[in-house]
Amino acid sequence: MSKRWYQENRRDPWRRQAKSKGYRSRSAFKLKQIHERFEIIRVGDAILDVGCHPGGWTQVSVEESGADGLVVGVDLKSTSPVEGASILQGDIGLIDTLERIEEILDGRQLNLVLSDISPKLTGRYDTDQSISLELSTMTLDVAMGMLVPGGTFVTKIFQGVGIEGLIEAARDRFSNVQRFAPLASRNSSSETYLVCRNRLPVPRQRARGLTANEQVQAHLTKVGVNVESETEEDTTEVVKGFRRFSKKDD
Ligand SMILES: C[S@@+](CC[C@H](N)C(=O)[O-])C[C@H]1O[C@@H](n2cnc3c(N)ncnc32)[C@H](O)[C@@H]1O
Repeated sequence: MSKRWYQENRRDPWRRQAKSKGYRSRSAFKLKQIHERFEIIRVGDAILDVGCHPGGWTQVSVEESGADGLVVGVDLKSTSPVEGASILQGDIGLIDTLERIEEILDGRQLNLVLSDISPKLTGRYDTDQSISLELSTMTLDVAMGMLVPGGTFVTKIFQGVGIEGLIEAARDRFSNVQRFAPLASRNSSSETYLVCRNRLPVPRQRARGLTANEQVQAHLTKVGVNVESETEEDTTEVVKGFRRFSKKDD
């Protein structure tokens, strides 16, 4: 047992508990705490777990939805099988991945879309936060194509520019939207979860005909982030999608 392993486990009770209870990640406790607070998983639910690797949330989803549940996990990374779930390797932003998910669902609509999706962190908070916003927004749009009316969507969010736009887009699609920081997240002050319950049968008037992505882009433009500008010689910031890349002046 390495000194580093020992120190990390001593400092992090969730990691220790995850190991002793057979969960693949400490994140499993974040979902358990979200579920304790909001009761988002019911027996027999059809659940999509986006960004499922290494599988902690998938394990909890299978436990809570029971033998009649249908759980699909998807991640860019290969994830070891979780008994009772179907696991796919793929990018949730690609049509091919969505088609594979739909094949498994075989005509069934989802009751719950979970997204603990997170980019490969660069360590630059602004960049990581804007990529995370883009991923969460994309997952909200995916959820809207697959969720049953009345269904639930949960996504991780990082506080920062544009988050209010995502929350507005969620409020246009669900009757109840709340932020929640599970205890197991509280060592990471910027990470919270957006819990969106009761998907509306149709989005509110101002969101009709718009994707969440289009709404968040409009919000970013309104707050002064030019999401469509091209690289220019004399700018220090280049924006693509929601992402802002630093560019050195020559
Ligand atoms: C924090 S981890 C999820 C941990 C998981 N909830 C658990 O309990 O084990 C975030 C995951 O999001 C995945 N991810 C990031 N971008 C993705 C994408 N475009 N499509 C699918 N998965 C993605 C990453 O590969 C990473 O494994």
